[in-house]
Amino acid sequence: MATAPRENHREDVAGRANVQDTPELLAYYDELDHLDAGALWTVANKIEPWQPKSSSVPVLWRYRDLRDHVLRSVELVSPEKAGRRVIYLNNPGRREQAAAVGWLYSGLQVMHPGEVASAHAHSASALRFIMEGKGAYTIVDGHKLTLGANDFVLTPNGTWHEHGVASDGSPCIWQDGLDIPLVNALEANFYAVHPNLQQHVGHPVDDMSHSWGNPGLRPAGAEWTRGYSPLLKYEWGPTYESLQRYARATDGSPFDGILMNYVNPVTGGPVMQTIGASMQLLRPGEATSAHRHTGSVIYQVAKGSGHSIIDGKRFDWTERDIFCVPSWAWHEHANASSGDDACLFAFNDLPVMNSLGLYREEAFGDNGGRQPLSS
Ligand SMILES: [Fe+2]
Ligand SMILES: [Fe+2]
Repeated sequence: MATAPRENHREDVAGRANVQDTPELLAYYDELDHLDAGALWTVANKIEPWQPKSSSVPVLWRYRDLRDHVLRSVELVSPEKAGRRVIYLNNPGRREQAAAVGWLYSGLQVMHPGEVASAHAHSASALRFIMEGKGAYTIVDGHKLTLGANDFVLTPNGTWHEHGVASDGSPCIWQDGLDIPLVNALEANFYAVHPNLQQHVGHPVDDMSHSWGNPGLRPAGAEWTRGYSPLLKYEWGPTYESLQRYARATDGSPFDGILMNYVNPVTGGPVMQTIGASMQLLRPGEATSAHRHTGSVIYQVAKGSGHSIIDGKRFDWTERDIFCVPSWAWHEHANASSGDDACLFAFNDLPVMNSLGLYREEAFGDNGGRQPLSS
C-alpha cells in the first residue's frame, strides 16, 4: 500500500525526536489523520525549535522610495472610502499576517489639509509617529492632541479615535504602528465605527499633555486606572532634550547608546499593555555592539543617518527611513556622522515578552562584539 510522503522532522540528537518511517508507522499516521490527531514525534522538532525562529526577514523601507507612492494614494482613494488611507509595510516573511515584523503592523498614512477620517475603536493598540506636515491632530476619547514632526502619539486599545489635518495645515504623513497581527493571533480583535462618525471634543485642546506631561510632577488628586498612559502624546522637543541631558550623565548602553523608554507616568511602565516605545541617541561616530533578544522591533530614523547591521546584513538609513529587527536577530547600530548625533525612534512588543516571562537577551561575544558582514 503506497502512502504519500509526510512530514517527519528528525534530529540525530539525544532527547530529540528521531523516529524512522516504516510502512506500519505510515499506516498508523494515516489512521491518526482520520481522527484529527497526530504523532508528536513527527513534528516536535519543528514546533519546538532550539531557539526562536522568526519567519520575518530584516527589511529597510526607504522613505525616498515610498513617499511618492504614499502621496499618490491621495489621488486614488478618499479617506471616506478607504476608512484609513494607508500604505502598509509588508514583510516578505509575514504577508499572510500583513505584518511589518513578527506580530507588529506598520503603515504610512497620508492626509491633506481639511481631511478628516472617521472615528473608530479597535482592540488593537495603536501609535503614530509624525513624519512630515503641519496641522495634524488626533482625537482620543474626546481629548484633542495637536501634532508636529517626530511627535509620538497613542491611540490605545478600546479608545474612540480619529485623525485629521487642519484646513490651514499642509499634507501630513505619519507612521501608524499597531499590534493587529498579535491581537488577531490571539483571536481577540474587535472593530467598531463611531455611531456619529466623528467625536465631540470634550476637553481643552492638549489637556492630557498639560496635565500629565510635566517631568517629575503629577497632578494632585488626579486618578488614572486604565492600562495605558494618560500622557497620550510625547513631543519631540522635550524628548530630544531629555536624551541630550541624559547623555551628559551616562556612558549609555553598549548596545543602544543613549536610550530612553517612553513610559506611562502613573506606573513607570510601558505606554500601552502590548506595545513599548523608545527613542535612542547615537552620539557622533558612535557604533554599538551587537546583541539579540526576543521581541520584534520597528525603528524609524528621527534624526541623522547611519547604518544598522541585522543578522550580518548592513542597512544604511537616513531620516524617516523605517527598518525592522525580527525576534532573536543580531543587531547593532552606527551613526555615520562624526559631528552630529542620530536618533532612532522604535516601538516593540517587549511588554508582551516581559509580562509573559519570555524575554531573553544575549550579547554577541565574538569579533569584539561586532558581527561579520555576510553580504
Ligand atoms: Fe485606529
Ligand atoms: Fe536591541
